[in-house]
Formats: sequence, C-alpha cells, structure tokens
Amino acid sequence: MTTFLHISDTHISGDPAYHPPWMRAGTPHPNTDAKNLLRAIKQLPYAIDFILHTGDVCAEPLADDYHCARDLLDALPTPIIMLPGNHDSGDLLSAILHDGRQRHVLRDAQLHLDDLHVIALDTSGGSEHAPSLRPQQLDWLESALDSCRDGRIIVATHHPLLETGVAWLDDSMRVQNGAAAHAILARHSHRIAGVLHGHIHQPTISCADGISYISCPSTWSNLAAYPGLTVDEPDPNCAPGYNLMMLRGHRLFARRCALPAAGA
Ligand SMILES: [Fe+2]
Repeated sequence: MTTFLHISDTHISGDPAYHPPWMRAGTPHPNTDAKNLLRAIKQLPYAIDFILHTGDVCAEPLADDYHCARDLLDALPTPIIMLPGNHDSGDLLSAILHDGRQRHVLRDAQLHLDDLHVIALDTSGGSEHAPSLRPQQLDWLESALDSCRDGRIIVATHHPLLETGVAWLDDSMRVQNGAAAHAILARHSHRIAGVLHGHIHQPTISCADGISYISCPSTWSNLAAYPGLTVDEPDPNCAPGYNLMMLRGHRLFARRCALPAAGA
C-alpha cells in the first residue's frame, strides 16, 4: 500500500517580480502557490510516503531559482522525487536539490521504494515544448522496465507521450516520438500502475493498451484542452492543485485535489 502526491509545474522563481510575458495578467507569483501547496501538505489528515514532482520545478534555468526551490522544499515533511521539465536546468536541479535522502532528482534513472519502482524518463532535453526521445533513451526505458523483477512500476515523464487528438497537445506539447515509448510501455502493461506526467498544466487521464497516463494540475496556473484547440488557452476555472495517488495492490486510484485559495 503506497500513498503519494503527484505535483507538477511549480515554476518556483528566485525573482520576486517574476511574471513572464506569456502569463495572463493578475496571475499570482508562482511561489505564492508553492507556499500554499506546502501549507496544504502539512495539514493533510493522512500520511504520505513521498511526493512525485514531474518537472518544471523552477521558472528559469538560474541558480537563484534552484536555491529558492531548495529553501522552500526543505520544509517538506516527506521525501520528494523530482525530474526536470523544459523550463528546468537538469544540471542545476541535480546539483542544488538532489541529496539522495529527502530529495531525489531522477534523469533517465530509477528508484526502488519497498515494492514500488519509480522509473523517470527525462524528456527535458533541449528545453523544448515538444521534444523527441533519443534512441538511447528508448533502449534505456526498455532495460529499466526489464530490470524490475517484482512489485509495481510508476513511470514518470514531464511531457505527455500519448496522442490525444487535441492538436495543441499533440503537436505543441507532446513527445513527438511518444508512440515509440508507448509501444515499449505496452509490452510491460501488466506491471505498470501508471504513467504520470505534467507540462500541460491540467489534470487529464488517457488510457491505451492497458496503460493509464495521468497528469495533475499545475500548482500555479492551468490551461484548457478540447477538440479543435490549436494554441494554448488559459483555464481560469481549473484551480491550482495536485493529485492524491493511492496504490493498493494492482489498483491505482487518483484523486484531483484543489489547493485552498491563497490566503484562505
Ligand atoms: Fe513544461
């Protein structure tokens, strides 16, 4: 029995005035929401085993941002597993936040926790919104899955892999050769509890060939997706939040949780 939180796209910044031009006016500073998340975690009425952060930990690939993230995440009462997103510097994330005890940064790497394997596929290469995996990464994924002899597997990526039919998600936000990764994952579907990702700033579920792909909302600002959408569009009705994940035997239950309004 494992209980964990899936969080993503915190975009923590060391710049108190950070407000990128692509973000809509009136959006709070991302650290406000990150602090709100930390408060919510401390007040959870249940125990969690760990937190999985699927990337875009920081807003910019700047050392200041990662020192700021470390200061914030130091307050977490539970271990956190992180992988880089396209806004991150994987090198800075590893150098400043990885300590191998409370904070784990995984880049094409796996972690064994009791009877659970977490396999993190690094899709952040090139800082692209719609990257492609290198052939060596696909080989690594296959060997990582093969190496898990028992227990359940959670696979984590920053970008989504599966095509949805929403043009904006598929063409502008997805791993472009995600079908190749999906084919590998599908061969191990009986062992994989879920593939968890972020990047698209919204909670979604996609299922194919026995694999469930689940994304969580950003803690900061969320986006829309619907048939025919070709460009990013804010969804002010999608509250900042996280997913509560409950792994019970062969079953994985996910519940989307909204953060309380900042200052509430
Ligand atoms: Fe991203």
